[in-house]
Amino acid sequence: MKFGLPAGKNPIDRLKIVGQPVDRVDGRLKTTGTAPYAYERHDVVAGQAYGAIVGAAIAKGRIISLDLADAKAAPGVIGIVTAANAGKVGVGDFYVAHPLAGPEVQHYHQAIAIVVAETFEQAQAAAALVRADYARAAGVYDLAVGKDQGTTPETDPDVDQGAFAAAFASAPVQIDNSYTTPGQTHAMMEPHATIAAWDGDRLTLWTSVQIVKWAVRDMAKILDMPPEKIRFDTPFIGGGFGGKATVLADAVLAAVAARAVNRPVRVTLTRPLMANNTSARPATLQRVRLGAAADGRLTAIGHESWSGNLPGGPAERSTVPTKSLYAAPNRMLRTRLVPLDLPQGNAMRAPGETPGLMAFEIAMDELAETLKLDPVELRLRNDTQFDPAKPERRFSTRRLADCLKIGAEKFGWDKRSSRPGAVRDGHDLIGMGMAAAIRGDNVTESAARVRLNRAGVVTVETDMTDLGTGTYTILAQTAAEMMGVPVDRVVVKLGDSDFPEASGSLGQRGANSSASAVYAACIKLREAAAIRLGFNTADAEFVDGEVRSGGRSRQLAEAAASGELVGEDRIEFGEEREALAHQTFGAHFVEVAVDAYTGAIRVRRMLAVAACGRILNPKTARSQFIGAMTMGMGGALMEELAVDKRFGFFVNHDLASYEVPVHADVPYQEVIFLEDTDSSSSPMKAKGVGELGICGVGAAIANALYNATGVRIRDYPMTLDKFLERLPSV
Ligand code: MOS
Repeated sequence: MKFGLPAGKNPIDRLKIVGQPVDRVDGRLKTTGTAPYAYERHDVVAGQAYGAIVGAAIAKGRIISLDLADAKAAPGVIGIVTAANAGKVGVGDFYVAHPLAGPEVQHYHQAIAIVVAETFEQAQAAAALVRADYARAAGVYDLAVGKDQGTTPETDPDVDQGAFAAAFASAPVQIDNSYTTPGQTHAMMEPHATIAAWDGDRLTLWTSVQIVKWAVRDMAKILDMPPEKIRFDTPFIGGGFGGKATVLADAVLAAVAARAVNRPVRVTLTRPLMANNTSARPATLQRVRLGAAADGRLTAIGHESWSGNLPGGPAERSTVPTKSLYAAPNRMLRTRLVPLDLPQGNAMRAPGETPGLMAFEIAMDELAETLKLDPVELRLRNDTQFDPAKPERRFSTRRLADCLKIGAEKFGWDKRSSRPGAVRDGHDLIGMGMAAAIRGDNVTESAARVRLNRAGVVTVETDMTDLGTGTYTILAQTAAEMMGVPVDRVVVKLGDSDFPEASGSLGQRGANSSASAVYAACIKLREAAAIRLGFNTADAEFVDGEVRSGGRSRQLAEAAASGELVGEDRIEFGEEREALAHQTFGAHFVEVAVDAYTGAIRVRRMLAVAACGRILNPKTARSQFIGAMTMGMGGALMEELAVDKRFGFFVNHDLASYEVPVHADVPYQEVIFLEDTDSSSSPMKAKGVGELGICGVGAAIANALYNATGVRIRDYPMTLDKFLERLPSV
């Protein structure tokens, strides 16, 4: 099905099941520990051996020699694979680092060997006996040092609208400040893990990846084999956030090792390997210049961002949100990509928007203060219904102003003191802060198959994935709504590359894209069912387990009485969708308490108001949102990949030293979704939800910290060492 604009009225609009807070259909599996995650799939293939990956101990250079003698002689060892005996191991289309080093080493903890043994413990113990001699080469590990070597990435050409320099110079009010955001690691609960098995020249991988079709594509390219001979199965994923977009060392080396030892091999990245072996959110340096008239209207916006990566890796696109957030006739945006020899950077939850708004929305707070204007009012004055990036183009929907106004009212923003450091509660300095949120809303073609059996059970099959986001549930709701059956009559099967190719989960596009695919497949199934039942397909209604047409009704299940019915289709989105700008919008409000004596920060309350399309399930959407708000809080206050700038690696490579919020850190959180049905988005009339929730959170907390203390922090994370000495004296 080609999606034609706009979506007319369709069966989803009934909203009997879609749009309702349906409990997770996989909730029982999750809470009873019986959902099959990759590393625990003992039953999928017999004779599994265990692989342990050895990571390089240098960041750049060459392996001179590998001494495997002690490791080979260790108890239980079956085999060891290195670049010398692995066969061809190439690079896929998404990640740029080689999954297996040798002799060249591109980054610290790049895999140099995989040791296979009978047990996990034996493999780990033997891996520790592998000895490598290296010739270390000099590398660049400090973004600030490499900054001047930055080049313009193809993805982000310079933006020059109007005349920024002149407009900024003549602006009555000017802000010009620099900000930094550190590297971050995804720190998902489930480490990367794969079981690989060969059957002749056919390879099966039980693993944990976000986009199955990319995994097939990349594995075929890496191992130089036909994609038809590769099967992936990834039914449950314990978090990904972009860090499991496609195959990494666990999957590649499990496959290579399984071929070498002629046994199925199971590999997980241990937690200490994850920070340096996979991918990270790159650190950024940013400079924001804002020029405004005395009434607060922005006349000039300048936003420059520097980030680093291995050669060929992407830039962190921090200026992307600045293109479309506020009206301003004159703007200058620069993205620079600096060659660094740190582990590769790539997508992490709302790449671009997250660090971009962490900087830009502090600058807006600074502008509001300079203007003596309320920060909410400043944003309202710069709102627009036309996309500043392409001023002739309207937004499909843009309820940013409503998010701001409703948020201010619900949060009690009028109780905020505009004078920083003015509110005390016992030992604590209390402050409120806010920020606007924007995140691109995209869709990708996606396919699904839907079956109806004689018992009236509807089965959905697609290689879509569920990262914990709720995909199983919303696809069950979609099929149930379309076929007029209760959710418990729907079975959803995901993550198997033998199923039709889906969008996968990335860039908050998975829910809308994959649900639209199920919609399209159900349209086919409805036609087939109506024909079987002798109805006119055009006016048949599917409701309460029945098909009704022309005053007659039959049980839906009867349509499959003489054999299973199958509907399969692919939703495609044409270029005409680009006639409108598609973005999601929100506003974050935060209250913090800062201990006046110790500087300890507690976030007390968080409120998000969001307009991000039709909400397919308010319960799972809320969970996505509060999860993202929590992640944003981690980014504001705790998370930082500390770089060893001498030797080029991330030092804090475990959950003891890379801090993320725990339950005790998380305050009262509230999320309000505004009605935002978007008929130009897809047949579901939905948008993305999962990444908008992190956008702007960091700045809202920074702004609240300033309001509480009068100390402005422009370097994340805002740990107390950065402001303790500047706190008001007590
Ligand atoms: Mo997200 S970084 O697009 O999984």
